[in-house]
Amino acid sequence: MEAQSGDTLLDAALEHGVEMPHECGGNCACTTCHIHVLEGAEYLSKPEEVEIDRLLSAENRQSYSRLGCQAILLLGEITVQLVEEASW
Ligand code: FES
Repeated sequence: MEAQSGDTLLDAALEHGVEMPHECGGNCACTTCHIHVLEGAEYLSKPEEVEIDRLLSAENRQSYSRLGCQAILLLGEITVQLVEEASW
Protein backbone atom coordinates (compact mmCIF):
# COMPACT_ATOMS: atom_id res chain seq x y z
CA MET A 1 0.00 0.00 0.00
CA GLU A 2 1.08 3.58 -0.45
CA ALA A 3 1.03 6.15 2.31
CA GLN A 4 1.87 9.78 2.85
CA SER A 5 5.20 10.85 4.24
CA GLY A 6 4.53 12.22 7.72
CA ASP A 7 1.80 9.72 8.56
CA THR A 8 2.29 7.24 11.36
CA LEU A 9 2.20 3.57 10.42
CA LEU A 10 -1.01 3.33 12.42
CA ASP A 11 -2.62 6.12 10.40
CA ALA A 12 -1.49 4.53 7.14
CA ALA A 13 -2.73 1.09 8.16
CA LEU A 14 -6.16 2.30 9.23
CA GLU A 15 -6.51 4.46 6.15
CA HIS A 16 -6.01 1.37 4.02
CA GLY A 17 -8.31 -0.88 6.01
CA VAL A 18 -5.52 -2.81 7.73
CA GLU A 19 -6.54 -3.88 11.23
CA MET A 20 -3.81 -2.58 13.48
CA PRO A 21 -4.88 -2.75 17.13
CA HIS A 22 -4.59 0.58 18.91
CA GLU A 23 -6.12 0.17 22.33
CA CYS A 24 -4.90 3.49 23.73
CA GLY A 25 -5.87 5.47 20.65
CA GLY A 26 -2.31 6.05 19.49
CA ASN A 27 -1.06 7.70 22.67
CA CYS A 28 1.93 5.45 23.33
CA ALA A 29 0.21 4.04 26.40
CA CYS A 30 -0.18 0.40 25.36
CA THR A 31 1.70 -2.02 23.11
CA THR A 32 -1.16 -3.25 20.95
CA CYS A 33 0.25 -1.50 17.86
CA HIS A 34 3.57 -3.32 18.25
CA ILE A 35 5.13 -4.18 14.91
CA HIS A 36 8.32 -5.71 13.64
CA VAL A 37 9.99 -3.74 10.90
CA LEU A 38 11.31 -6.33 8.47
CA GLU A 39 12.72 -3.96 5.86
CA GLY A 40 13.23 -0.22 5.47
CA ALA A 41 13.66 0.86 9.09
CA GLU A 42 15.76 3.74 7.79
CA TYR A 43 12.61 5.16 6.21
CA LEU A 44 10.94 5.61 9.59
CA SER A 45 11.45 8.31 12.19
CA LYS A 46 13.83 7.43 14.99
CA PRO A 47 12.07 6.17 18.12
CA GLU A 48 11.77 8.70 20.91
CA GLU A 49 12.40 7.90 24.56
CA VAL A 50 8.72 7.42 25.37
CA GLU A 51 8.35 4.77 22.63
CA ILE A 52 11.53 2.99 23.69
CA ASP A 53 10.30 2.91 27.29
CA ARG A 54 6.86 1.61 26.26
CA LEU A 55 8.37 -1.13 24.12
CA LEU A 56 10.17 -2.49 27.17
CA SER A 57 6.84 -3.97 28.25
CA ALA A 58 5.99 -5.46 24.84
CA GLU A 59 5.90 -9.20 24.36
CA ASN A 60 8.17 -10.61 21.69
CA ARG A 61 10.18 -7.37 21.60
CA GLN A 62 13.04 -7.37 19.13
CA SER A 63 15.68 -4.85 18.14
CA TYR A 64 13.49 -4.11 15.11
CA SER A 65 10.31 -3.53 17.13
CA ARG A 66 8.38 -0.28 16.82
CA LEU A 67 5.01 1.05 17.87
CA GLY A 68 2.85 1.73 14.85
CA CYS A 69 1.38 4.85 16.40
CA GLN A 70 4.80 6.38 16.99
CA ALA A 71 6.75 5.40 13.86
CA ILE A 72 6.40 8.14 11.26
CA LEU A 73 6.85 7.39 7.59
CA LEU A 74 9.61 9.22 5.79
CA LEU A 75 10.34 8.42 2.14
CA GLY A 76 10.87 4.87 0.90
CA GLU A 77 9.55 1.34 1.07
CA ILE A 78 9.16 -0.53 4.29
CA THR A 79 7.87 -3.95 5.23
CA VAL A 80 6.34 -4.54 8.64
CA GLN A 81 4.61 -7.37 10.45
CA LEU A 82 1.99 -6.97 13.16
CA VAL A 83 2.93 -8.62 16.44
CA GLU A 84 0.12 -10.40 18.24
CA GLU A 85 0.07 -9.55 21.91
CA ALA A 86 -1.30 -12.39 24.02
CA SER A 87 -3.62 -10.14 25.96
CA TRP A 88 -4.23 -6.56 26.81
S1 FES B 1 -1.85 2.44 20.04
FE1 FES B 1 -1.25 2.26 22.11
S2 FES B 1 0.89 2.50 21.95
FE2 FES B 1 0.26 2.64 19.91
